[in-house]
Amino acid sequence: MTEQQRTARVVGPDYLLAGRYRLAYKLGGGGMGAVWLAQDTLMGRKVAVKQVTSTIDLSEKAAREVRNRAMREGRIAARLSSPHAIAMHDVAIEDGEPWLVMEYMPSRSLAQALNIAETLPPYEVAQVGAQVADALTEAHEAGIVHRDIKPGNILIADRGRTLGIVKISDFGISRAKGDVEESDSSVITGTPAYFAPEVARGQDPTEASDVFSLGATLYTAIEGRPPFDIDEDSIALLHRVARGQIISPSRSGDLTPALLHMLEPDPSRRPTMAQARDEIIRSAVSSKGSIASLRGVPLTTSDGVVPGWAHRSTPVAETRRPSREFGNTVAGLPAVRSTGLSDTTPKPYSPPPFDVPKKKNSLDKVLDAVDDAVGDKVDIPPAVILGVGVAVVLLFVVLLIALL
Ligand SMILES: Nc1ncnc2c1ncn2[C@@H]1O[C@H](COP(=O)(O)OP(=O)(O)O)[C@@H](O)[C@H]1O
Ligand SMILES: [Mg+2]
Repeated sequence: MTEQQRTARVVGPDYLLAGRYRLAYKLGGGGMGAVWLAQDTLMGRKVAVKQVTSTIDLSEKAAREVRNRAMREGRIAARLSSPHAIAMHDVAIEDGEPWLVMEYMPSRSLAQALNIAETLPPYEVAQVGAQVADALTEAHEAGIVHRDIKPGNILIADRGRTLGIVKISDFGISRAKGDVEESDSSVITGTPAYFAPEVARGQDPTEASDVFSLGATLYTAIEGRPPFDIDEDSIALLHRVARGQIISPSRSGDLTPALLHMLEPDPSRRPTMAQARDEIIRSAVSSKGSIASLRGVPLTTSDGVVPGWAHRSTPVAETRRPSREFGNTVAGLPAVRSTGLSDTTPKPYSPPPFDVPKKKNSLDKVLDAVDDAVGDKVDIPPAVILGVGVAVVLLFVVLLIALL
């Protein structure tokens, strides 16, 4: 498709994508696009649809790279069938632009959870780690390297039947063995705060760097900051990461040995993803435990209940606290060994300018209500239900009297 043929599309709530998926509202969005809740009108189920960043303002080459990346994400995620990875259903093509159609999981990301709790107990973080490591073990066995493991890409179901289940998402910059890479290999893409040292030095990400990034993610959830801390200046941070000297964890308890093993600066000394998963379980969940006992099982506190921070009814204090995401995915960050460190400011792709719904319309409200009715049932105390019931009956009686 030529540049002239690419025309702006107005996308918003109610928009019918590819004649099949009716958009409701935005669930989230990061550097690579926006994710919408939608209704699959053919199958009669909810799905999450990822709208890749608009290519309207991009050069033909950049637009092709964005479209290729979306197709790659779709194909890679479709190869996985783990209970702990978001399932990819379809890629819908509209006006030559791919939209990814995924399993919808009512959830909050681990980054959002860290806005509520700031730090989480090692026992709970270990279960998150084991479930994600289980999915990534399968990915690695299939020759897939995720390359962007971080709190924002780990989803935890916050209501409904799957409450407390953890899934990895966003294979947006993943690579599968045998992929023909179109992108420039002199630059690195990902999230610097979770980079493995060798990646910060410019080496290609590998399975071992995924292990490091998962270790860095779990470390952040426990300590409240990433292993190399944070820095406004991505290049300064990249230099620290490249040196590989993490700040010693102080709150990780039983999980410490497994965590330090994953965070080994030398990739050859790190465990494989499967070993990391098993070490996490044995050190911090149960000495005789195995993934079989955790697969598809909701997270629990040490008292055996789903932690409060994982429930939707616990509000996220996004506006009051600074984001706990500690950095977005960036494309085109120079490795620390390359030249011209100061002249290239890493910029994530800017989000599409045309589609932010200001007000929810009736379809949103209906979907919201259905969502809430299904998901939060468990959180509504019986007294409240009784109270609402009595109020409705009284209202009816008053109306009847008024009519008579
Ligand atoms: N399958 C899904 N179900 C529910 N929410 C989702 C789903 N996928 C993504 N989201 C929401 O959208 C956010 C961004 O999704 P992600 O795939 O990480 O996109 P990006 O490439 O923009 O980072 C997530 O943090 C989450 O809040
Ligand atoms: Mg993401």
